[in-house]
Amino acid sequence: MGNLPEQNELPSGPARPVDGSGYDVVVVGGGVIGLSVGWWAARTGRSVAVCDPAPGQGSSWAAAGMLAPLSEASPAEAHLYPLAADSLRRWPAFAAALADDGGGDVGLRTDGTLVVAAGDDDRRALAELRDRMAAFDPPGDWLGGGACRRLEPALHPGVRGGFEVAGDLQVDNRAVLAALQSALATRQGELIRSAVVAVELAGGRLPGGRHRVHLDGGATVEAGWLVLATGAGGHTIGGVPAGCQPPVRPVRGDIVRLQGDPGEPVLGRVVRAQVDGRHVYLVPRRNGQVVVGATSEEGGYRTTSRAGAVHDLLHDAVTVVPELAELELAEVCARLRPATPDNGPVLGPTAAERVAVAAGHYRNGFLLAPVTAAAVVATVCNEEMPAVAAGCGAGRFG
Ligand code: GLY
Repeated sequence: MGNLPEQNELPSGPARPVDGSGYDVVVVGGGVIGLSVGWWAARTGRSVAVCDPAPGQGSSWAAAGMLAPLSEASPAEAHLYPLAADSLRRWPAFAAALADDGGGDVGLRTDGTLVVAAGDDDRRALAELRDRMAAFDPPGDWLGGGACRRLEPALHPGVRGGFEVAGDLQVDNRAVLAALQSALATRQGELIRSAVVAVELAGGRLPGGRHRVHLDGGATVEAGWLVLATGAGGHTIGGVPAGCQPPVRPVRGDIVRLQGDPGEPVLGRVVRAQVDGRHVYLVPRRNGQVVVGATSEEGGYRTTSRAGAVHDLLHDAVTVVPELAELELAEVCARLRPATPDNGPVLGPTAAERVAVAAGHYRNGFLLAPVTAAAVVATVCNEEMPAVAAGCGAGRFG
């Protein structure tokens, strides 16, 4: 991964509001991205508010928390690897900073990923995938089924083989969301539990050149900088000029959580499997849960779970690790990933003055949170974004 930064370096601050009439920065959206940007901005001494009626309850709530730049990407997303790898390198320092700010342990794990094939066609496909990955960051050698089972004894004896991606990390998504809210509070940032219905950009008309944010229920807050971190829901906010809100489409994911005994974990690391051409991931948590995900369905804003999708996930999970059938079915949920036309995020300034965006993180909200926070906070501090984020501007979609 070369000379990428080991940690998020903070831009210089502080710059408290001069007149007390509003915030330096108002972030619209309180998922992992909005909370990360808000907390990171608050660490520079800026006054910050993050607005969301239900912080952390959107797609971030469903996420599996895998930090996996290569094993999570499709071949068509190879252009995103440098950004993803950079953000992976930032995660240990990001997690340590969260702990320093009272966020506690976010369950950062370094066990890596084991990618396995259920059938012969799956084996051929994964061997090709492994060869393609080697061009970026060489994964482990191809392993036979027996070697895979020595690493993960719960795998079905029929598993055809696979390979390790030792550098992948994982975090507990819900621990991260709680940590970000605590850390934001530690840094005197505010969480406004209200929906933003519209924004009114300064345009020279509002006193002090501030933007005004209209909340559900009629209250308003004012902001020197506005950051749009609205996930798949940005289309519902009025007053956002064309060119400020990137083209984001919803990609639904169904995900299941199984509860096992924390004293007898079924798996020791993330297992990703291809089963008859379908993909499933199994993410073990320290509390005994195994997160089983996820479907990928384009079209519509529905967040109820589809029975057939849950059936396929459980079928594929149990095909690869039969013992999972004995765990308790703890939760089924569906959320919307925010995807852009090239599946990459949109970060940084927009065509409107003092309006920044942090959107379209698709499958990688948790992975990309540290580099997003660094890029967007650099923007609001009038500093250079990390060079690796240079290609993430809103302008690339015309
Ligand atoms: N990053 C996991 C998923 O999108 O399903």
